[in-house]
Amino acid sequence: MRAHRSVWIALAAVIAMVMMAAAQQPQKEIKHVTIRPTSPASGQEMYKTYCAVCHGTDGKGNGPAADALKVPPTDLTALASKNAGKYPALKVSAILSGEQVLAAHGSKDMPIWGHLFRSISSGHDSEVQQRVTNLNKYIESLQKK
Ligand code: HEC
Repeated sequence: MRAHRSVWIALAAVIAMVMMAAAQQPQKEIKHVTIRPTSPASGQEMYKTYCAVCHGTDGKGNGPAADALKVPPTDLTALASKNAGKYPALKVSAILSGEQVLAAHGSKDMPIWGHLFRSISSGHDSEVQQRVTNLNKYIESLQKK
């Protein structure tokens, strides 16, 4: 059950971050999503479980925790349109694997997913890669025309 314990540690980290964000603005109420391990094969399941709380189910940046963050979550449906119509797959995978650090990392608003994925994948790099690839494909499918 080692893998399961890691999942809870990873998810506790996410919840702690959301609660810290909430503490800065106590008037905001943070809804807690039900947390569970996900299949690395489903980008949609991973997105809904790990990302929608901030970026919104539709990817537009309006998840339940968004109001409590200092830096608003990026509208993920506009990544292609903000990049001359081309979805920036390499940039997104660099962000998700933790190679590219976002400004908001300093304020812990955007979690470093590479670390979390490694912990729920029992350290298997190929599974981490699969998670990044499938999430990336799912976000690409959300792009507005
Ligand atoms: C706790 C809230 C939170 C969660 C959960 C979260 N994000 Fe973010 N995300 C942010 C914030 C805030 C930013 C803006 C960071 C900045 O501009 O410095 C961001 C930025 C991003 C960006 C950068 C877009 C760009 O090019 O500027 C990507 C890609 C992204 N998130 C993907 C994801 C994915 C995929 C997940 C789930 C695995 C996720 N995020 C979960 C808060 C979150």
